[in-house]
Parts: sequence; C-alpha cells; structure tokens
Amino acid sequence: MRKVVVTGLGAITPLAAGAKATWKRLLDASCGIGSTSALGPSFASLPSRVAGLVPQGSREDGRWQAKDWLPASEERQMALFAQYAIAAADEALDDADWHPSSPHQLERTGVTVGSGIGNLDEAYNASVSFHTHGYRKVSPLFVPRLLINLAAGHISIRHGFKGPNHAATTACTTGLHAIGDASRLIAFGDADVMVAGGAESCIHPLAIAGFARARSLATDWNDSPQLASRPFDKNRNGFVIGEGAGVVVLEELEHAKARNAKIYAEVKGYGLSSDAFHMTAPREDGEGAFLAMRQALRHAEIRPSDVDYVNAHATSTVLGDAAENRAIKRLLLGSEGKQHAADINVSSTKGAIGHLLGAAGAVEAIFTILAVHHNVLPPTLNLESPGNPAEEFNCNYIPHAAQQHTVNAALTNSFGFGGTNASLCLGKAP
Ligand SMILES: *[C@@H]1O[C@H](CO)[C@@H](O)[C@H](O)[C@H]1NC(C)=O
Ligand SMILES: *[C@@H]1O[C@H](CO)[C@@H](O)[C@H](O)[C@H]1NC(C)=O
Ligand SMILES: *[C@@H]1O[C@H](CO)[C@@H](O)[C@H](O)[C@H]1NC(C)=O
Repeated sequence: MRKVVVTGLGAITPLAAGAKATWKRLLDASCGIGSTSALGPSFASLPSRVAGLVPQGSREDGRWQAKDWLPASEERQMALFAQYAIAAADEALDDADWHPSSPHQLERTGVTVGSGIGNLDEAYNASVSFHTHGYRKVSPLFVPRLLINLAAGHISIRHGFKGPNHAATTACTTGLHAIGDASRLIAFGDADVMVAGGAESCIHPLAIAGFARARSLATDWNDSPQLASRPFDKNRNGFVIGEGAGVVVLEELEHAKARNAKIYAEVKGYGLSSDAFHMTAPREDGEGAFLAMRQALRHAEIRPSDVDYVNAHATSTVLGDAAENRAIKRLLLGSEGKQHAADINVSSTKGAIGHLLGAAGAVEAIFTILAVHHNVLPPTLNLESPGNPAEEFNCNYIPHAAQQHTVNAALTNSFGFGGTNASLCLGKAP
C-alpha cells in the first residue's frame, strides 16, 4: 500500500485567516466566538445569538477580505464558502511548495473539497427574488454559485489540476471524509498529490433558525459569547455555529521525499461507520464513534495504548459529548489500552472556534496534524467543571491551556447528522 503524508496546510477560521496564525491563537487560548446581534434584526430575534465569524480585515493582519485573494470578477462568481476554500488551498499549496507545471504533474494532482450546506444565502435570496419578480430576476450565476462541488471546481481551474475532482457532502463529517477519501485515492494510485478539505459559510438567520429548532444550538450564553462553546463542561447546552475552511495537501510518501518536501505527519488510518440509529441524535453508547475509531486504528496497525491524543468532535451538546466520551473510553481503556481514564488525553478545539460544520473535520485534522508535528496538545476552552454526568468525564481534557506532550499518534473524529461517523489516525512522519 502506498503511504500518504501531509505536506501543506491552509485554513480560514474564526481565530484567523491562515493556518499558522490560527494555530498560534489556539495555543494562546484565544476564542474566536462573538455576538451576531450586530448583524441585523433577523439575527437579533433568534434564540442563539453567538457565532464563530471569520475576522474581517487585511491578510497581513491575519484577517479576511476577499480582494486579498481573488479578483473582483471571480469573487462575484463564487459563493463565500468557495472563496474560503480557494484561500485555504492557496495557503496549503504555498506551504507545500507544490506549484506543478508539467502535464504529468498536473494530471497526477487532484482536489476533494466539500461543504455541508453550501450557499444558503444565495438560495434564500434567489428564492425570494424569483417569488417576487419571476424569471428575469434569476441570475445566470445562480447555479454556479449554488453548487457544492464548485469549490473543488474553482481550485482545479485556478491551478490547472487535472486529477480526480470530488466533493464530499456528509454534513459535519464532510471535511474529514474529504481528507480520508483523498488519502485513499493516493494510496490506490489515482493521484500522487491531493488538495483536500472542507469549507462552510452559512451564518445566515435561516440556518441558525433551523439548527435552533432542532435544539442543537447554545442559547444560554448570548451575553457572553466567548463562554458559549464549552465542550465536556457540565453547563454545555448546544453548539455554536462557525464558518471557515480547512485544506491540506496530501502526497504519496516517495513523491514527497523525492522533491524534499517538508512532511508534517502521515495519514496512518481512516475509519468510517454509521450509527444506523437516528437522523440527528447519537446513540447513547457512542457505538458509531467507537466503530469508526476502532477501524482507523486497525487500518493504522496501532494499539489503543499508543494513542497519545484525541481531537474530539465534541460540539458542546449534552448528548453528543457524552456519547463520544463513552466511545473514547470504551476504545482506549482496557487490556490493550490505557489503565486509567486520566491517561487519555482528549480535547475539543470547538471551545475556541465553534462548530464549522462541513469545514470542522478539515480544520480539526489540521490541529491534530500540528499536535503531532509540534508535540503540543491544544486546549479545551471553558471547561470549568467536566460533567453531566460528572462521574463519566474523568479523562484529561486539556482544560484552558495547551500542554506539551510527545504525540506519536493521534485520532481526530467527525460525526454528522444522518448518523455518519469518521475517524482519522495521524502519526509522525515515517
Ligand atoms: C442576499 O441579500 C442580502 C440582503 O439584501 C444581502 O445583504 C446579501 O449580500 C445577499 N447575498 C447574496 C449571496 O447575494
Ligand atoms: C455518529 O454520527 C451521529 C450523527 O448525528 C452523531 O449524532 C453521533 O454522535 C455519532 N456517533 C456517536 C455515538 O458519537
Ligand atoms: C497526557 O499528557 C500528559 C502531559 O500533558 C502526559 O504526562 C501523559 O503521559 C499523557 N498521557 C498519555 C497516555 O499519553
């Protein structure tokens, strides 16, 4: 089997525009969550008024403005989630120093970048406008701005990549599925280099209304947004919606070595499963999460005792965090695993950025890759008192501050509505 390594990272997140700037702020225990009340009356009347918005400003300051990345003509054609994906892909390709020009290299480079929801803003505006004014008010750019696979399409057009072009859309598992599936395409020989990740930008009143109706969102912290996302904490009461993109450059090991590329980590294992249970609720015992993680470890040929860090999906919901916590303990404790729950190092970086939906798995895979690369465990913010139920939350959740610790192997989890679960195992570069 061909081995797959990570050679480039790019991200646009509520902490910063840029993977390195985001990582620095994450380790400083900064929080990227703010209030949505200023965005207008349609936001101010909703039960959840907090969100992880990408900071606006110039690229030099680690902030986002589209004109720093795209000409105005392209910006007009593209959904915001696709713009974030373009920017994250540019950063990842520069980081990997992969700017191929030969026909063979271009044919051997592909893209898998997905989104969970896509361009809700466009769908909403176009529906209202069509309803009111009819056919003549439908933009010729409506369909290209709507389609989810256009992020991947635009990246390949911009760089001339002629390899596989694909877009996962599996709700909140999208970003991790994109990276896992891309690693399989390389391992199987369909490509030598893949640009892979997820992007999301749907901080729209209708999206917030929908998630709030599904009782998924944090509603108790509208006056103190930075405390709203509190994975594993006993007072958690829902997730905080976020936006952004995460994109990695994956590469076949010998290909990376031959061009002397910097290697961050190896993609060692990938597990996929389904709860086969409910549209939105997890199974209490965390069966789906357990199966995905176990499969990722089998594929990686790593024992549970060798897992140094888990980047949890934990979104700060009562049921989801408890189910995943059970699954992690079931997998990592026991005869082949660790002796005590306190030996399990697990954090959820959603305390700092909220839940980026289709981008979450990709951004969190980047955090996990950097944890392996730098031997640092990123913190879980707002973890005052682990609990609900208290007796079950007895792992090391890396509360408040980052911890230094050798990370030879790590897992990162993503779970999505519909019951889809994935886990990726990352390890030190071979
Ligand atoms: C949708 O309409 C709102 C209100 O007019 C506007 O602010 C927003 O930019 C529009 N979005 C798109 C994608 O055109
Ligand atoms: C698997 O995905 C489902 C889908 O929503 C999620 O709710 C659940 O938490 C995941 N499995 C577990 C047990 O964590
Ligand atoms: C968890 O991290 C701490 C340092 O932060 C370390 O001392 C401990 O050994 C780690 N546990 C495992 C099992 O890796």
